[in-house]
Amino acid sequence: ATQTYMFYRGYALPTETHSEESLKFAQEFEFGDDDVVAVTYPKSGTVWTQEILPLVLNGGDLTPIQTIPNWDRVPWLEEKRLAVVVDQLPSPRAMVTHFPYHLMPPSFHKSKAKVIYITRNPKDVLVSSYYFHQMAGFLEDPGTFDEFMEKFLAGKVLFGKWTDHVKSWRHTDLGDRIMYITYEEMVQDLPAALRRFSDFLGCNLSEDTIQKISEHCSFKSMKANNMSNFSMIPKQYMDADKSPFLRKGISGDWKNHFSSEQLARFSAVIMKEMEDENFSRPWSL
Ligand code: PPS
Repeated sequence: ATQTYMFYRGYALPTETHSEESLKFAQEFEFGDDDVVAVTYPKSGTVWTQEILPLVLNGGDLTPIQTIPNWDRVPWLEEKRLAVVVDQLPSPRAMVTHFPYHLMPPSFHKSKAKVIYITRNPKDVLVSSYYFHQMAGFLEDPGTFDEFMEKFLAGKVLFGKWTDHVKSWRHTDLGDRIMYITYEEMVQDLPAALRRFSDFLGCNLSEDTIQKISEHCSFKSMKANNMSNFSMIPKQYMDADKSPFLRKGISGDWKNHFSSEQLARFSAVIMKEMEDENFSRPWSL
């Protein structure tokens, strides 16, 4: 039988979506100056940006979000689908990746491609990931919440430690090629977040267009969009009866899952690992 995970430079990756070939393809991928890549630690807003980026970049034309599944519309750099759809991507091309900074391919560094890095409260990342591991047939069972928290803190999860990922993308030489935003800011005021996307990408969108995009990228609209809610994926791979991919879409759900002991343990570890970082964010660690 096929192994659930493969290992790539120390990172465990699901073989359902990744392969030696897809990772080689990513490393040899030729980034262009017009490319845009949204970077996330898993469960931080990736699929959300697969809805946002096409609309911001094309002036609010709904065709891509109504006709192309999210994974082909804004493909993951490291996953198998990129090679299949790369020639069909409109210009400017938009992609997503979960790569930490040091795994980005050589062409990325030579290009002027722009990066949007999204950070989410790691407590909510953990909760979202826990449910995702329960519903996704191509991931290992998470065990109990307590067990999964320990794996998360030890970095024995997809793409390693949250703290390493966040730190890797905060210490780059990308200058004004990178914009940082948090999932929480996007939840709090999506039109304001979209204005930042638009300004950063030089898109010059009218306020009407911002409002229109905001409506179509709401949690509710995405849940109703079959091109974005993973309803086309067979149940054996993603079982929405266990937990939908678009699960709650809020900030602070960790409060419904953490015991006071778990909160103390989690915060102590994360705070220690972030102590040298000058890191402003809309939540306490
Ligand atoms: S993955 O598997 O890494 O690609 O997951 P990712 O897309 O990064 O994260 C999934 C979480 O993002 C939430 N989400 C949204 N929240 C608010 N509004 C919108 N429009 C939206 N779209 C996706 C999704 O519900 C997951 O969070 P949880 O907390 O599990 O609901």
